[in-house]
Amino acid sequence: MMKCQSFIPLFLILHLSAGASSSLTKASGGHWRLLHQNIGISATHMQLLNNDRVVLFDGAHFGPSNLTVPAGNCRRHRRGNKVDCTAHSAEYDVATNTIRPLMINTADDGVWCSSAAVTSDGRGFVRFVQTDGDGNGVEARVRNYNPCSVSNSDSNCVWEVMDVVLAARGHRRFYPTNHVRPSGRHIIIGRGRGSLFTYEFFPKTQSVSSTKLYNLVPFANNNNNVYPFMFLNTDGNIFIFNNNRAILFDFVNNKVVKIYPEIPGGGDPRTYYSSAVLLPLNNLTSNMVVEAEVLICGGAPKGSYSQALKGNFIRASNTCARIKITDPKPKWVIETMPQARVMADMTLLPNGDVLIINGAEAGTAGPNLGRKPVFQPVIYRPNSKYGVGSGFKLQNPSSIPRMYLSTAILLRDGRVLVGGSNPSMNYNFSSGVVFPTELRLEAFSPWYLDEELSNLRPTIIYPPNDTKLGYRQKLTIRFTVVGNGGGGGGSIAKDSVLVTMVSPSYTTNSFSMNHRELVLDPERVAQVVQNVYEVVVTTPPSTNLAPPGFYLLFVIHQEIPSEGIAVMIG
Ligand SMILES: *[C@@H]1O[C@H](CO)[C@@H](O)[C@H](O)[C@H]1NC(C)=O
Ligand SMILES: *[C@@H]1O[C@H](CO)[C@@H](O)[C@H](O)[C@H]1NC(C)=O
Ligand SMILES: *[C@@H]1O[C@H](CO)[C@@H](O)[C@H](O)[C@H]1NC(C)=O
Ligand SMILES: *[C@@H]1O[C@H](CO)[C@@H](O)[C@H](O)[C@H]1NC(C)=O
Repeated sequence: MMKCQSFIPLFLILHLSAGASSSLTKASGGHWRLLHQNIGISATHMQLLNNDRVVLFDGAHFGPSNLTVPAGNCRRHRRGNKVDCTAHSAEYDVATNTIRPLMINTADDGVWCSSAAVTSDGRGFVRFVQTDGDGNGVEARVRNYNPCSVSNSDSNCVWEVMDVVLAARGHRRFYPTNHVRPSGRHIIIGRGRGSLFTYEFFPKTQSVSSTKLYNLVPFANNNNNVYPFMFLNTDGNIFIFNNNRAILFDFVNNKVVKIYPEIPGGGDPRTYYSSAVLLPLNNLTSNMVVEAEVLICGGAPKGSYSQALKGNFIRASNTCARIKITDPKPKWVIETMPQARVMADMTLLPNGDVLIINGAEAGTAGPNLGRKPVFQPVIYRPNSKYGVGSGFKLQNPSSIPRMYLSTAILLRDGRVLVGGSNPSMNYNFSSGVVFPTELRLEAFSPWYLDEELSNLRPTIIYPPNDTKLGYRQKLTIRFTVVGNGGGGGGSIAKDSVLVTMVSPSYTTNSFSMNHRELVLDPERVAQVVQNVYEVVVTTPPSTNLAPPGFYLLFVIHQEIPSEGIAVMIG
């Protein structure tokens, strides 16, 4: 639970004089910045790496993109045997705001509708493993992308196809979800529309031909197996949500340990149309069960898809469903959002709030099936003290429709990178389409980045970026706050400080895979010298709470986050 409940720190309210109310309204609304008018491809899939760069890509089968690659780098695509000399992937460098084209060598659709996660390669480095995609005739592949670094210059950090295939022969994955397990291996689940619901692990410990595929019985006859929402529960089991129902699954023993009630509301399907997050985990070091809650927002009522195909664009759902997945008798609690929204993206913010962004008010997910773009994001506070339904706050609007296949991810500096939208599927910029392929890249800066708050904003000075952390370890973090925090006499109140760790997500199709936030309560906050403070926390106690890998660590002061530092745990 975040400690302060109001959007505006109390200190600010007391500090600002009359006439400040307009700036307070502004301070709660955030602001938008257009980063690029044209990055050449539509950012349908995005992942932040530990070097402050974002790998983004689109399908490779849409015809020529607007991003050229060095001469001679052409592919022949299996569909129509066409030669394509453009890039369908790129690396965005946050610091320099530049784009570097990346070639994905595939004769097929390749990376389209894939799953992925960042993992350590065992030497402490971070690598991005991208799995599956629209096989279109080939077995699913694993691709690897090693982030650029001092020892790995730009010319070396390129996409590589690994010498492994996923799943059994003839069993291709499409729209799967990926999650890092406590062991660091991935579980990959789902197989796309109309096929069996199976899972497997990666890396393989056996040869692929002998790889066991497991069938998930409760979902086996479900025909909407697309990007299931999957979260590692704090007990080490995995929560899997598909359509409107969920199970808790023990993947070590291949056993369903719990079946959750269906979301009330007549069986409206949520996956693919909604978005979901695991709410920030608190109280990690108490001896009690660490409680975990899942929030699923928006969607389209049953029948929206077939209606949209006929040109009837039904109003999207304006509800969120929240459930405590660790509860022995869990129940869904329904909350009402200020707007209706289908195909939202949900992103955890460093201070424990949730951003609900992108999407449409009418129609549904799918090519050209959305209408009435929703331009205003919403911030949801999980622990609003005013009770159910009071946690939503509308934010300032963008002017760019972000419909089907748009994305949003958290950056290290606390901004949210927003890209994509390609309802027309083929790169179609023609004015004859309702929503053209979107090549613009934007950033949304939540209220906490407002200039007026810079006096309260912490800056981490120790430990350095890329620090390796163990589990249940005392960690001392040193930070500065220029404006001494308003505590008077240069001190900062212990309960105005939090430390959080957020795992950067792989985001596509309205779902952020592997996204998780851990709230580390301060044990001690002390002033070192003028404007310099130290906070002592305990790192997460187990791999069930924090699977090994790359996280962003933030110091939060009066709900305002510092820039994060990249840390590796495990
Ligand atoms: C943490 O645990 C304590 C003691 O059980 C409880 O009072 C408190 O509400 C919990 N905090 C959160 C954020 O859940
Ligand atoms: C794509 O690139 C071409 C050539 O640079 C340019 O003329 C065209 O306007 C671009 N299209 C879009 C939608 O940016
Ligand atoms: C773009 O959309 C228009 C209108 O539907 C269509 O006529 C055209 O063929 C499309 N172009 C591509 C490249 O898909
Ligand atoms: C982390 O890296 C960023 C970007 O290079 C830098 O601005 C910041 O000072 C670094 N933080 C620490 C604590 O080393």
